[in-house]
Amino acid sequence: MCGIVGVIGKDNTTDILLKGLEKLEYRGYDSAGIYVNNQDGKDFLVKEVGKISELEKAVTSDVQGLVGIGHTRWATHGKPTIENAHPHFSDDNRFYLVHNGVLTNFEELKNKYLSDVHFNSQTDTEVAVQLVDHFAKQGMDGETAFRKALSLIEGSYAFAMVDKEQPDRIFVAKNKSPLLIGLGDGFNVICSDAMAMLEETHEYVEIHDGEVVILKKNSVEISKLDGTKVQRGSYTVNLDASDISKGTYAHYMLKEIDEQPNVMRKISQNYIKNDGTLNVEKDLLDEMNKADRLYIVAAGTSYHAGLVGRNIFEKICDVPVDVELGSEFGYHMPKLSKHPFFIFLSQSGETADSRQVLVKVNELNLPSLTITNVANSTLSREATYTMELLAGPEIAVASTKAYTAQIAVEAVLAKALGEVKGLQSAKDFDVKEQLALAANGIQSIVDAKDKIKKLADEFLTGQRDAFYIGRGIDYALSLEAALKLKEISYIHAEGFAAGELKHGTIALIEKGTPVFAYVNDGVGASHTRGNIQEVEARGANVLVIASKKYAESGDQIIIPEIDELISPIISVVPAQLIAYYASLARGNDVDKPRNLAKSVTVE
Ligand code: AGP
Repeated sequence: MCGIVGVIGKDNTTDILLKGLEKLEYRGYDSAGIYVNNQDGKDFLVKEVGKISELEKAVTSDVQGLVGIGHTRWATHGKPTIENAHPHFSDDNRFYLVHNGVLTNFEELKNKYLSDVHFNSQTDTEVAVQLVDHFAKQGMDGETAFRKALSLIEGSYAFAMVDKEQPDRIFVAKNKSPLLIGLGDGFNVICSDAMAMLEETHEYVEIHDGEVVILKKNSVEISKLDGTKVQRGSYTVNLDASDISKGTYAHYMLKEIDEQPNVMRKISQNYIKNDGTLNVEKDLLDEMNKADRLYIVAAGTSYHAGLVGRNIFEKICDVPVDVELGSEFGYHMPKLSKHPFFIFLSQSGETADSRQVLVKVNELNLPSLTITNVANSTLSREATYTMELLAGPEIAVASTKAYTAQIAVEAVLAKALGEVKGLQSAKDFDVKEQLALAANGIQSIVDAKDKIKKLADEFLTGQRDAFYIGRGIDYALSLEAALKLKEISYIHAEGFAAGELKHGTIALIEKGTPVFAYVNDGVGASHTRGNIQEVEARGANVLVIASKKYAESGDQIIIPEIDELISPIISVVPAQLIAYYASLARGNDVDKPRNLAKSVTVE
């Protein structure tokens, strides 16, 4: 969601900016732009609505310079138009600025300081750049004006700004929205995430909330808003440019679905030692062992993985678990237990809804763990403990391998915690064997892609609505399966507790309505069969996805053997593939569905 790139000290600035923006495409955007300055009085601003390829077409060969900033915009304030695209500029064309985040007091600032200024856009961002200019016009130098504006601005932001009068530097600031500095030899870059600049550097420095950076080609000066200097070392990002390429695949989503067996093996190798003992931090387990309740906080697919996790932790560790949506929990925090422990699940580690809960958890001095796919992400840095998903970069907006990895890591953690508690349930749960079964089980499903494509065509061609139903673990899974289908195929899909249909929703079932029924939950299996009959009697076209143990003749997809607790790791895969093929059949942009962003960095 909104991406920022910037570079200073290279002579192929335009190229680096455009390539960086392409790498950030996966985050979701609806317009893009660059500002390039040749440090010799000449500068260029190019903006376009739509894909980066449109921006590339608009960039002529003379757009060259030694410093530049670029941006992909996901519209919040104002429609996706060229005027609203970033970079924004002050009315005297002195300052150029890109922004990721949402400014909450922009109307107030506009009324108070900028009533006589002409605005070119409807964005909150333009207020920031006009405000800097307003203070510069009062005689402040660029940096002082930037700091003054920051001291008044409220909300979330990552800013990068170029002052035409000082084009030897980029002004950078951050609060709540992600931004990194990348270090080079005789040049430096900025980016919303490291993937954008891996071709330039693997060495990065974090910027923390409330910090300002003056970036020059040979120096990085970090300070707090009040000017106090900050010293911070760099870290190496161990990713290759090839990790983020599609290879021979038509879409990242299919590649990422296919990668899941390997992700299971990687998690197993990393977290389970050769002697079978678990590689989980002792302090983390001791802290969790003190908790009388676990609170899992997440959004979207990660929330669904949390729902599966609740069952795993409650059954294996005998501890009560609440699973909460970050967007709700942060603002309506219920009465907490006496000794809560928080688990943040987030593929990106940047989701603003979850992060605002973590900020409150830290204010309350409560212990927390972030389980994330992105080392050094904000949620990972700010939680007390971190566990990595090790799924490799997930680029497609629709989350697939991160979901299965989250369940696998939850299973490892539950086993480790249950062992610390000395519980038989933990001893009986052979997580190594289960992850091996998961890898093989996923493989058998992805090997049956052609069959699943046929089923997707048969059940979903021409349909507007679809339902996923199940009980217990299959209900949690149905929510994720339905989300996958709706977010990329745009078919209206709902996940339902199978028993709830007859309390209202069954009224929507008519001749030919596709209903995907999950039967993996032992306790609920026979009842779900009853619910299948109810919808069939009303004309539904039912596709059954059943585990080997509960399968009946006529069931279309059989899930190989695995412990029920983690069965969604395998049984979600047919739903991922069904969604993929339904999206393809409709000619949608599978990897970048409309209106969505990969990393949701605004609340
Ligand atoms: C699902 O396919 C989406 N990408 C979305 O629901 C996602 O899971 C959610 O925005 C949370 O993201 P996170 O895991 O990066 O925190």
